[in-house]
Amino acid sequence: MSEVQRTFVLIKPDAVRRGLVGAILARYENKGLAIEALQLRTIDGEFADRHYAEHVDASWYPPLRGYITSGPLVALVLSGPGAVEAVRTMHGATDGITAAPGSVRGDYALSNRENAVHASDSVASAEREIGLWFDAS
Ligand code: CDP
Ligand code: MG
Repeated sequence: MSEVQRTFVLIKPDAVRRGLVGAILARYENKGLAIEALQLRTIDGEFADRHYAEHVDASWYPPLRGYITSGPLVALVLSGPGAVEAVRTMHGATDGITAAPGSVRGDYALSNRENAVHASDSVASAEREIGLWFDAS
C-alpha cells in the first residue's frame, strides 16, 4: 500500500465557467480521494506569479497569467494513497488535444493552456502549493 499523501489541485477558470466543478470533484471522490480543503477564489497576477514561479520567464507565461486570473477557480487539497501520482494520472497530459480520453483533460479540454485542472507534480511541490494557498494568509 502506498503512503498517504496530500496533493494540491486547481479546477481552473475555464472549467468553473463551463459548470464542470461538480463533475470534476465527483471523479476525485469516486476514486476514493478525500477532500481536505476546498475554496472558491479569484487570484490576482501577483499571486499567479507565486503559484507559477517556475514558469514566469516562459514565453507563454503572460497569456497563462491572464487566463488563470480571468475568473473564479476552485483550490483544493486531496489526500489518499499515492495521491500526487494518482491525480496527475487522472488529469492526463498537459495538452487537452493529446490527453488520453478518460482523463480529465482528455474529456474536458482542447487546449494546452485552458486545460481545466492543475495538480502538484511531486510531494515537495504539494507542500509548497498547499502552504501558498491554504496555510499562509
Ligand atoms: O499543468 P502541467 O504540470 O501539466 O503543465 P506545465 O508544463 O507545468 O504548465 C503549467 C500550465 O501552463 C499548464 O497546465 C497550462 O495551463 C499552461 N501552459 C501554457 O499556457 N502554454 C504552454 N505552452 C504550456 C503550459
Ligand atoms: Mg507543472
